[in-house]
Amino acid sequence: MSAQTYTVLAIETSCDETAAAVVRGRTVLSNVMHSQTVHRTYGGVVPELASRAHLRAIAPVVRQALTDAGLSIRQIDALAVTTQPGLIGSLLVGVNFAKGLALRTRLPVVPVNHIEGHIFSGLLEDPALEFPFLALVVSGGHTALFWVEDFQRLTLLGSTRDDAAGEAFDKIASLLGLGYPGGPAIDRLAAQGNPRAYTFPRALLTEPTFDFSFSGLKTAVRGMLQRTFPEGVPADALPDLCASVQAAIVDVLVHKTIHAARRYRARTIVVAGGVSANSELRRRMQEAAQRIGARVVLPRLSYCLDNAAMIGLVAHEKLRFHGPAAYRQLTFIAIPTPLRSPHGRKPSPAAAETTASTVGVQP
Ligand code: KG4
Ligand code: ZN
Repeated sequence: MSAQTYTVLAIETSCDETAAAVVRGRTVLSNVMHSQTVHRTYGGVVPELASRAHLRAIAPVVRQALTDAGLSIRQIDALAVTTQPGLIGSLLVGVNFAKGLALRTRLPVVPVNHIEGHIFSGLLEDPALEFPFLALVVSGGHTALFWVEDFQRLTLLGSTRDDAAGEAFDKIASLLGLGYPGGPAIDRLAAQGNPRAYTFPRALLTEPTFDFSFSGLKTAVRGMLQRTFPEGVPADALPDLCASVQAAIVDVLVHKTIHAARRYRARTIVVAGGVSANSELRRRMQEAAQRIGARVVLPRLSYCLDNAAMIGLVAHEKLRFHGPAAYRQLTFIAIPTPLRSPHGRKPSPAAAETTASTVGVQP
């Protein structure tokens, strides 16, 4: 392991955010994120539109990241790019842009797993964060718990068997007519509601597993809405509905995380990914962690949502471990999230997340 500090230009295009950042070690010199708004009218990310929007945004976003850092490409030591998991068309834009830039500049390129980025994003918020720690990655695409001993040793403790928590927020928000993405809207309305007004299921809550399941909640909400509000949900019922849905999701996330923290005697818990913006999750996780003497690290929103700074940070550690010479080959490829089977489940449960535990920091 070298003690050298590298300046890395990182690119992230795995879903609907076109992002680029410059990091030097654990210091973020710039972090540019362009959120695609084109998907709002469709109630979810449309893959083909996402790829086209990435194509339009990538060059200006990368240029902006260099400008914000006050650096030229000649002052960069290495490039980094998210290669998996994600939407294939979206990943390809970032991967091919990085390869093109590498051919022109002769810089090495570090391929990075997006989930690893989320896991280690706590180090951007708190550079003194010590191993080991427990990481809850909770976003629109992922819900998984990892025990993290160092950059090479990640153990996947459990992950969702069907929908991710953010997906549950988004799908239920859509049933309630709240638009996309629905998490922030549910969070806002829930603040005025009673979380005990409606009883919704908390799947696998007391089962001896660190896995999650959120698709039953969505089905329960749909059934309840059809029975109780056949004419459509009245606006004055929304706060209680949102508070009750949010409580069901947050209960499970907090319960499983604290259970794992106890089992592994974790002193630190990192909560990352878009859903960690949820105000109730932040409050309840901090309260529960305090009761067991653990500290919660909640990266700021710009490090929680899909961003390139987290990709640069992981790349930097890989460079220190393997050296830049290990990243001269441009043979790496984009690897998409496995498609779901007709039953709505991934062919292999959480195959995407599992990659993080097996990839480690290998080149
Ligand atoms: O990490 P992210 O930007 O992209 C993915 O990798 O999915 O996460 C986006 C997800 C969406 O599902 C969105 O509804 C959810 O994060 N989200 C929230 C909140 N803010 C964003 N969910 C609940 N409460 C929030 N305040
Ligand atoms: Zn993500």
